Amino acid sequence: MTVPSFREWDSSAYDRISAPQFTWGKKVLDHLSLRGDEVLLDGGCGTGKLTGELLTLLPRGRLVAVDLSENMLRKARENVEFRFPARITFVVADLAHLPFVQAFDGIFSTAAFHWIPDHDRLFRSLYRTLRPGGWLVAQCGGGPNLCRLLARVDALSQTATYAAYVGSYQHRWTFSHPATTAYSLEAAGFRNVQSSLEPAPTRFEGEREFSEFVCKVILREFLEYLPHKSLRRQFLSELARQAGDDDPPYQLDYWRLNLEGRRPA
Ligand SMILES: C[S@@+](CC[C@H](N)C(=O)[O-])C[C@H]1O[C@@H](n2cnc3c(N)ncnc32)[C@H](O)[C@@H]1O
Repeated sequence: MTVPSFREWDSSAYDRISAPQFTWGKKVLDHLSLRGDEVLLDGGCGTGKLTGELLTLLPRGRLVAVDLSENMLRKARENVEFRFPARITFVVADLAHLPFVQAFDGIFSTAAFHWIPDHDRLFRSLYRTLRPGGWLVAQCGGGPNLCRLLARVDALSQTATYAAYVGSYQHRWTFSHPATTAYSLEAAGFRNVQSSLEPAPTRFEGEREFSEFVCKVILREFLEYLPHKSLRRQFLSELARQAGDDDPPYQLDYWRLNLEGRRPA
């Protein structure tokens, strides 16, 4: 079996259904205190909805929007560039291997770091890109993020229908904890480090919305290992059936990890 490449996303679908990520990210954005003339990096910008919000807070500043996925960046460009010509640059890059040195006053990133396996390397890369005195404010999945859903996925994966394809599948996310994250940020050189976890249970209107979100966002990699469309549909519909029996129904047990730090001046 060929191993699928996971850099790319269905960016049109993500753009349409990413209201949860927008809501969480907007809360983080609303806590930023900016002068308005900074040069910032948006790390893992996706389709750029929050990138656009961030640029409205930078009337005299500039922004570099970075993402690993070309599809996501194309959509971000479509969504944002015409509103802020000359103040935004889009760069395809891995956040753990950024091609910038002391270039930014600050880094903003939401819903991206848990997709990156090595947080020590990630934080060293981010630190290098910051000017002395520069800050990092970010949020990603962490702690017991999606525990209930993933226990169901694991149990279903062990059943006879699916075991041959996904019985030994290992999810690639890094759902870190505040103490581990703080240690890792400090080891990279950050100071004034803060890290905390918050629950973010997220309710979907019905089975269709729940299944589409699980398919296009959470299990987009995992489902590639099931060889037929019909098998993927069957897997998703079993997860949706279980979620429909929950009280409240169709709720995902999201947890967000907040992290902050500063490069000493
Ligand atoms: C769930 S989306 C979040 C997008 C956006 N920040 C938002 O909140 O809507 C995660 C994004 O992180 C990007 N990503 C994952 N790993 C990355 C890496 N190593 N370097 C850069 N971007 C990465 C993905 O391509 C994707 O666009």
